[in-house]
Formats: sequence, structure tokens, C-alpha cells
Amino acid sequence: MCASGRPIALLLCCLISSATSSPVSIFTPAPPPSPSPTILPPPPSPSPGDPETTGEVGCPLTLSPSTLVVRFGDPVTANCSVSRIGFSPLGWVVSLAAPEATTDRFQVWRVDRMTDWSIRPTCYALSEQGQCDIHLPLTVYKPPDNVSISFVGPTGPMLEGQQCTLQCTVEDVAPVENLTVTFYRGRTALSQQQSNISNTEKKPVTDIFSFNITLSKEDDGVQYWCEAKLELGPDGPQRPPVVTSQNISPTVYFGPQLVCPTKLQVREGEGLRCEVTGNPQPSVTWFRDGQVVVLPTHSSRKDAGKYTAFAEGLLGQKNFTVEVEVLPGSGTTNSCNEHFLLAVLLIQMINWL
Ligand SMILES: *[C@@H]1O[C@H](CO)[C@@H](O)[C@H](O)[C@H]1NC(C)=O
Ligand SMILES: *[C@@H]1O[C@H](CO)[C@@H](O)[C@H](O)[C@H]1NC(C)=O
Ligand SMILES: *[C@@H]1O[C@H](CO)[C@@H](O)[C@H](O)[C@H]1NC(C)=O
Ligand SMILES: *[C@@H]1O[C@H](CO)[C@@H](O)[C@H](O)[C@H]1NC(C)=O
Ligand SMILES: *[C@@H]1O[C@H](CO)[C@@H](O)[C@H](O)[C@H]1NC(C)=O
Ligand SMILES: *[C@@H]1O[C@H](CO)[C@@H](O)[C@H](O)[C@H]1NC(C)=O
Repeated sequence: MCASGRPIALLLCCLISSATSSPVSIFTPAPPPSPSPTILPPPPSPSPGDPETTGEVGCPLTLSPSTLVVRFGDPVTANCSVSRIGFSPLGWVVSLAAPEATTDRFQVWRVDRMTDWSIRPTCYALSEQGQCDIHLPLTVYKPPDNVSISFVGPTGPMLEGQQCTLQCTVEDVAPVENLTVTFYRGRTALSQQQSNISNTEKKPVTDIFSFNITLSKEDDGVQYWCEAKLELGPDGPQRPPVVTSQNISPTVYFGPQLVCPTKLQVREGEGLRCEVTGNPQPSVTWFRDGQVVVLPTHSSRKDAGKYTAFAEGLLGQKNFTVEVEVLPGSGTTNSCNEHFLLAVLLIQMINWL
């Protein structure tokens, strides 16, 4: 290689090879980074028919920018330039607004409105050695028109413990390969999914994503939603396009359920509180010894015993039995302590006197 270059290149080349082959560098752990600019190998010799002068390796074309991400309908500009003389004409092969070939050192391709989803622009240059070309990677994107969420599956009331499917429909998005859909419950992300549609045409498509949930009574009124995001990388827009769906809140039916323990302890004087819940709220009737009763608001010892709740909700009817124990009231123990403290105080005062 050294032998075929021009005199200066030969000198530089030999200088580098002598520097790298010096015995000192063998014993140093790591040679310090060279502060001098990178020295390129000499240009290939212009002998016709040489296989190394044609093809990608020797292609002196540069694209600015080197990749493009553009929203459908937006303008596009790219500059293709040749770094050496002897390569002309220079031109673009592209399906939209292809400019005429030029003998200048550069050629700009400009489109006012990008309307081709699968465009593949290529810049080429011709020299005596043949043609060389460079491809401009271009992504045309479009955020979805609409993102909507729904519950699918059996119709009718949603019951606690039942499995159901959330469906997120993303309409008319491109490129679907770069779409990420996330399901949310309130502010919590549940699942992140990517499309598995392989779309060689790159045109906008509609895709449906699903996620199964098991309903709990805490889901009643919780907001579910989904988000569609186009991840277009560092060449894409600074903020990736995001479209969110509406919120949906399931109505989850449950119950009747007993909230209090089945062995309930209350203090004398306190109210006997035991709730039966459900959605919708069931109607509850309390029985004691076969008699309809109202739970006492001030319990006394005689209120101890077995109570039965007869609850009727939308999902059916249930009976609950609660055994109530009435403990000595806290008020008596308190006044006992007060008397004791008063006595101690009196004794102290007597001692002082
Ligand atoms: C295109 O690139 C060349 C080489 O870098 C530069 O000289 C020229 O001004 C550029 N043209 C435009 C329109 O940007
Ligand atoms: C989005 O889709 C949903 C479900 O098909 C529909 O109800 C809603 O009106 C649409 N919104 C827009 C803005 O098109
Ligand atoms: C992914 O592919 C499988 C089988 O090819 C298909 O059943 C499923 O619906 C696809 N999922 C999405 C989100 O398109
Ligand atoms: C989600 O639920 C549907 C309907 O019950 C079922 O056919 C499907 O296999 C479930 N998918 C997953 C991933 O569990
Ligand atoms: C967009 O999708 C293509 C095809 O799946 C992938 O090669 C590329 O890396 C994606 N870009 C980003 C920024 O994720
Ligand atoms: C609940 O109790 C009522 C009255 O004792 C009785 O008629 C009914 O059959 C009971 N229901 C159940 C589900 O045990």
C-alpha cells in the first residue's frame, strides 16, 4: 500500500508504521491517544479496471443529514455531496421530486410534502471507474388518528373474580414496527406491548392490543386507559408522538359480604357495629332469637349473644351469624383510676400538712 501512494502519503504512511512498530510501544501497557488528526489512507490509484476503486468502499459521497425521520405531509431536504473531483454527474434516484443530475459537487433533494410511505432515496455519482451510490434511510411516520379502549367478552354485569379482556384499538398508525402500546390502571402501567404486524409497505395500519385482567371489588370506579407511542429514535421528533385513549371505569358487582368478625367483642356502652357491604348495597335485616332487631347503639351485658344478618343483594341472598361478647365498659375502669389518683393526691397533701 505504501508503495502505490503519492510522495507525501508515502512519508506519512511510513511514519505511522515506524511509530507503531517501535519497540517502546510493545512494553507500554497502553499507548496514549494520539493528539494529531486522523490520517486517512491514500486515495485508491486511478488505474482503470482495478476492483478496489469501484463499489461502496471507495464511494466518496456524503449525505446531510445521513438519516431522516419525517412526518407524513411534512417537507424534506437532503444534500448529497461528493468529496473528490472526477465524480460526475451527480444525482438522486427517488420516486418523488427527483432533481436533474448535475456536474456540481453537490445536489440537494427537496420535497414540499412527503406523501410516499415506502420511499427509498438514493444518491449516485458516476466516474470513469463506474457508478457509486449511497442510500438515505428515511422513515415516514404518522401518529394514530384515534386510540380507544374497551372491555370485551361476556356482556352483563362484571363480577368480582371474573376475568375480562381490555382491548386497545390504535387506528391508522405508521410505521407500526415502532409502535408501543401500554395499558394503565390509574397511574400504574400494567403491560407494554408491541405490534407483531409485519408491514413491508410501511403504510398506516390499525392494530388491536389485548390485556386480560381479573376483576376485584377495588376495580369498581378505577380508570383504565391505554397509550400509543411511536418510538422513532434519536433522528425522530424530540418528544415521541403519544396518543392516549379515553378512560373507562368498570362497575364491579360483589357481595353481600360481612365486614365485621364473626366473633365480635364490644365494650359496654359502645355501639354494636357490624356492616354487610356489596355493590349494589344489599338490604340487611338483623335477627336475634328469631326476632327482627336493631343493633344497639349503647351495648349492655344483656346484648351479648348470637345475631343473624339476612342480606339480599343483586347477586343473591346470604345469611351471616355473628357472636357478640360484651366486655366491661371502659368508663368504669377509668373512674376507678381517677378515684385511686385522687386518694394518692389526698394522702400526699396530708403528709405535707
Ligand atoms: C451541500 O453540501 C456541500 C458540501 O458539504 C456544501 O458545500 C453545500 O453548501 C451544501 N448545500 C446546501 C444547499 O446545503
Ligand atoms: C375513536 O374511536 C372510538 C371508538 O370507535 C369512537 O367512539 C370515538 O368517537 C373516536 N374518536 C375520534 C376522535 O374519532
Ligand atoms: C401476534 O401474533 C399472533 C400469532 O401470529 C396473533 O394471534 C396475535 O393476535 C398477534 N398480536 C397482536 C397484538 O397483533
Ligand atoms: C385472555 O382471555 C381470553 C378470553 O377469556 C382468552 O381467550 C385468552 O387466552 C386470554 N389471554 C391470555 C394471554 O391469558
Ligand atoms: C423502528 O422499527 C424498526 C423495525 O422494527 C427498528 O429497526 C428500529 O430500530 C425502530 N426504531 C426505534 C427507534 O426503535
Ligand atoms: C337465611 O335465613 C332465612 C331466615 O331464617 C331463611 O329463610 C333462608 O333460607 C336463609 N338463607 C340461606 C341462604 O341460608
